[in-house]
Amino acid sequence: MDLFEYQAKELFVKHGVPSSEGRVTDTAEDARAIAEEIGKPVMVKAQVKAGGRGKAGGVKYAATADDAFTHAQNILGLDIKGHITKKILVAEAKDIAEEYYISFLLDRSNRTYLAMCSVEGGMEIEEVAATKPERLAKIAVDAVKGVDLAFARSIAEQGHLPAEVLDAAAVTIQKLWEVFVKEDATLVEVNPLVRTPQDEILALDGKVTLDENAEFRHPDHEAFADKDATDPLELKAKENDLNYVKLDGEVGIIGNGAGLVMSTLDVVAYAGENHGGVKPANFLDIGGGASAEVMAAGLDVILGDAQVKSVFVNVFGGITACDAVANGIVKALEILGGEANKPLVVRLDGNKVDEGRQILVDAAHPLITLAQTMDEGADKAAELAAAK
Ligand SMILES: Nc1ncnc2c1ncn2[C@@H]1O[C@H](COP(=O)(O)OP(=O)(O)OP(=O)(O)O)[C@@H](O)[C@H]1O
Ligand SMILES: [Mg+2]
Repeated sequence: MDLFEYQAKELFVKHGVPSSEGRVTDTAEDARAIAEEIGKPVMVKAQVKAGGRGKAGGVKYAATADDAFTHAQNILGLDIKGHITKKILVAEAKDIAEEYYISFLLDRSNRTYLAMCSVEGGMEIEEVAATKPERLAKIAVDAVKGVDLAFARSIAEQGHLPAEVLDAAAVTIQKLWEVFVKEDATLVEVNPLVRTPQDEILALDGKVTLDENAEFRHPDHEAFADKDATDPLELKAKENDLNYVKLDGEVGIIGNGAGLVMSTLDVVAYAGENHGGVKPANFLDIGGGASAEVMAAGLDVILGDAQVKSVFVNVFGGITACDAVANGIVKALEILGGEANKPLVVRLDGNKVDEGRQILVDAAHPLITLAQTMDEGADKAAELAAAK
């Protein structure tokens, strides 16, 4: 999960990373009030999950509270790379002597963590990497040893930060590492890491990505979720612990096992080419225990997608055998009643396939069509979607 700058800074405050005082809001009046509270010049900063906000006019200096009001009016609603600004951060404007760059991230290819540090901050780091790679230090971080103060100092030194600020930089960098580890982040990036005329080192911007696999350890992270931006169907699926990803086709897909579902998407997309170009509407893996409840929850999400015209249920019976899955489908349709109103193509194979098919034949549900093979099922589902 990517955080907004103001959320990243909440984590910075929690771990004692020096930054600048500020508050988030969604009205210009409130921006004025915050600026008055701070009582000093402020920066008004668009809160969008996109880079290059400054260049797009989303970061403005306000000498007075009235200026803050005016900037806030202009920035709220501003489109930054397709992201509409709904919130702004009003933060104390600090005096800046120099701007540096620091980040910690997960280096998947080298199976380790990586620190990146550069004296050339403020601008886009990709540009520094491309034009002056020697100015951007990339330092592997041992996950077990982590980053102590001495190592943090060495990171700053390798990034060519000036000698006078190495000690102060070490303190801030070490605290940013604490944020990275204690919050289970996969990215903590600060650009600019600022040197003030008093040689303080402050994190004036913040990008944090949290590892959703560690969510269970951080009940407080739930508050960071951007409910407005999440697709409502994905939200509903998440509430039901379903592995669902919304796509933009017409054939709803339910399968068990990520691999089977992925190949079902391919087969349906391929079959769709013969039926007016219909495509899969979603990824949904209902996992091992395809109970009636899980099947009903899955169908409920898929049928809630107005774009869906037909559904292809493709299940390979294993520990949960086909008869249990077939009963699950029949019961799910009972549970959903009138909500279930789109044709279902079901392909079962694997453990107890004959029993499973017999259950569906006996149920003789008007919406269900049985398919013998995956290709046949995909073709039928695509045909039904195209016919609608
Ligand atoms: N609190 C602050 N005080 C003084 N100057 C600031 C402050 N916050 C930002 N700035 C200045 O504005 C510039 C741009 O701000 P920031 O880095 O937050 O946004 P950005 O780089 O344009 O956006 P992004 O990081 O999303 O690409 C900074 O490099 C810095 O010079
Ligand atoms: Mg920045």
